[in-house]
Amino acid sequence: MARRLTPEQARALADRVSYYRDLGIHDFYRRAASADITVETAVAEEVVESSPLEPEPTLPKAATAAKFPEASIKDPVAALRVIREDLGDCTRCVLHQQGRKQIVFGVGNPKADLMFVGEGPGADEDEQGEPFVGRAGQLLNKMIEAMGLKREEVYIANVVKCRPPGNRTPERDECDTCSPFLYRQIDVIKPKAIVALGAVAAKNLLGMNDTMANMRGRWYDYRGTQLRVTYHPAFLLRDPRQKGEAWKDLQEVMKYLGLEIKKAGN
Ligand code: URA
Repeated sequence: MARRLTPEQARALADRVSYYRDLGIHDFYRRAASADITVETAVAEEVVESSPLEPEPTLPKAATAAKFPEASIKDPVAALRVIREDLGDCTRCVLHQQGRKQIVFGVGNPKADLMFVGEGPGADEDEQGEPFVGRAGQLLNKMIEAMGLKREEVYIANVVKCRPPGNRTPERDECDTCSPFLYRQIDVIKPKAIVALGAVAAKNLLGMNDTMANMRGRWYDYRGTQLRVTYHPAFLLRDPRQKGEAWKDLQEVMKYLGLEIKKAGN
C-alpha cells in the first residue's frame, strides 16, 4: 500500500503529472486502471512506492519526438526556426497583453554543448529581443567567460518568452503554457549539460518544487541530459557573497564537459 501523501508531496506529484502531459506523455498506468483510480493517484502511488519526489531518471525522447514538426528536421537551425514559427505572435497566455514588446525566443549556438535556462525576459531583453542582455546578462556573460567559453558558444533561453509585467515571477499557468517550447528547443539543441538559473528554471525543468538550497549541489537527469541548478545572476547581483557558491556549481559543469578549470576571479 502506498503511504498517504503530505500536501507538498501531493502538489509536487500533481506538478509532475502536468509536466508529463506537457511533454505529451499520457500513459502512466502500470496496472489496469479501476474506475476510482485517476491518473494523478496512479502516478502518485507509483512514485511514492519507488522514490518520493526524486526526479525520474529519464523521460522517453520519443514521446515528444513524434509530436512536433521539427522532429524530422536534421538541421538544428531550421528546426529551431520551425519552433519559432509555431510560437508565432503568441497569445497563448496573458503575458501577450501585459506590455510585452516582443517574444524573446533564445540565442546562441544551436549545437551547443551547454545551455543556460533563465526565468523570463526583463525590460532590456524585451527591448532587444534577446535573453540576458541587461545587468543580469552582463554577469551571466562573465560566468560563461569564467568557464572558458564565449556567449556565442552556448545557448541561452528562458522558461517564459514574454516579459512578465514589472519583472514579476511568471505564474504557474504562464510557465506551463510556455515551457513546452523550451523543451522543444532543448530537444533540438541536445546539449550535453543544462544549467538552470534560479528556482523558476529548476522547478520547471525538473517538475519539482523545492528550495534552491535543496536543488543545488547535485546532478539531475533531464530526459537524458545532465542538469545542474545554480543561482540566478540577478540574485547574485543582489547577494554577491553567493558568487563563490555559483562558481562551485559551474566548476562541476566544467568538469563534466571536460573544460579546463583555472583559478577563479570574481
Ligand atoms: N532574467 C532572466 O531570467 N532571463 C533573462 O533573459 C533576463 C533576466
